Amino acid sequence: MRIFSGIQPTGRKHLGNYIGAITQYVAGQHRGEAIYCVVDLHATTVAYEPDILRESVYDTAATLLGAGLEPDRCIFFRQSDVHEHTELTWLLSSVTAFGDLNRMTQFKDKSSAQRELVSAGLFFYPVLMAADVLAYRAQEVPVGEDQRQHLELMRDIAERFNARFGQTLVVPEARIPEVGARIMDLQFPDRKMSTTGGSPQGTVYVLDEPPAVSKKIRSAVTDSGTEVVRAPDKAGISNLIEILAAVRGTAPEEIEREFDGEGYGAFKQAVADAVVTYLSPVRERYAQLRADEPKLEQVLEEGAAKAREVASGTLADVREAMGVGPVRPRQ
Ligand code: TRP
Repeated sequence: MRIFSGIQPTGRKHLGNYIGAITQYVAGQHRGEAIYCVVDLHATTVAYEPDILRESVYDTAATLLGAGLEPDRCIFFRQSDVHEHTELTWLLSSVTAFGDLNRMTQFKDKSSAQRELVSAGLFFYPVLMAADVLAYRAQEVPVGEDQRQHLELMRDIAERFNARFGQTLVVPEARIPEVGARIMDLQFPDRKMSTTGGSPQGTVYVLDEPPAVSKKIRSAVTDSGTEVVRAPDKAGISNLIEILAAVRGTAPEEIEREFDGEGYGAFKQAVADAVVTYLSPVRERYAQLRADEPKLEQVLEEGAAKAREVASGTLADVREAMGVGPVRPRQ
């Protein structure tokens, strides 16, 4: 099983990202051949600062390595280091329907949020994303629910390529986690925890110091009741139950049983302590890794070399199938 995912370069990963996505990446290393890249080229499709982008790639790399990605067990690299991604983007554009790109909801949302310029890169974002995955002939793509439409497009692109030029690419499947998707903002428990759309006090960041984590959880919005149970009118408590269940790796029912008869105060304190214990080792490893940029560079470069080995083979097949470049000599 070959697994691929791309990760946006931002150092501000929150608890929802951690539970929903990052733990899956780490687990992927033990389930199959896992390939992950930090997608700095995708980050250039909206307004950004070059210096900050470079820093953010290091922040993200250190966060993921701190969370348990092991460069010996997976291929971990920076997207822009492997030029095959950009070349394949162009080649795939010939089997990508303009009308499909025009229907992408993320493009519509992001383009209306741009103040200065809606770049053609933003429009092409899903083609680059397809190239990321198809270059490795990955079978499985762990992504959030918000990426479902991009995954469908990627599958269409692969299918259209194969139909037009012969069986060359693998049509990948999305793997959309259930758990992390349910982690809600602590202040507005009807909204997902989010870096962009959430509230600062309702968002626990992986790199928050323990007192900040504790304070955010203890001041989470709850209802006027007293029972620690999940219910539609108890969004705040339900969210804290889900969080504690995810962090402990148990079922929510288990948590309800354990806190039966306890007040909200004691329950919130238990959640706060559990999350602090859960995130602290990551934050500590992050600090060590982030301090050594040359080492991070080396890890990313070694990852890119391994990635290139795989991607260059696919590119050779794609070019040949498309009649681009000379015929390859047969060995
Ligand atoms: N667009 C994805 C996101 O915002 C990130 C991404 C880029 C990605 N390339 C990818 C995810 C390839 C999976 C596979 O989350």
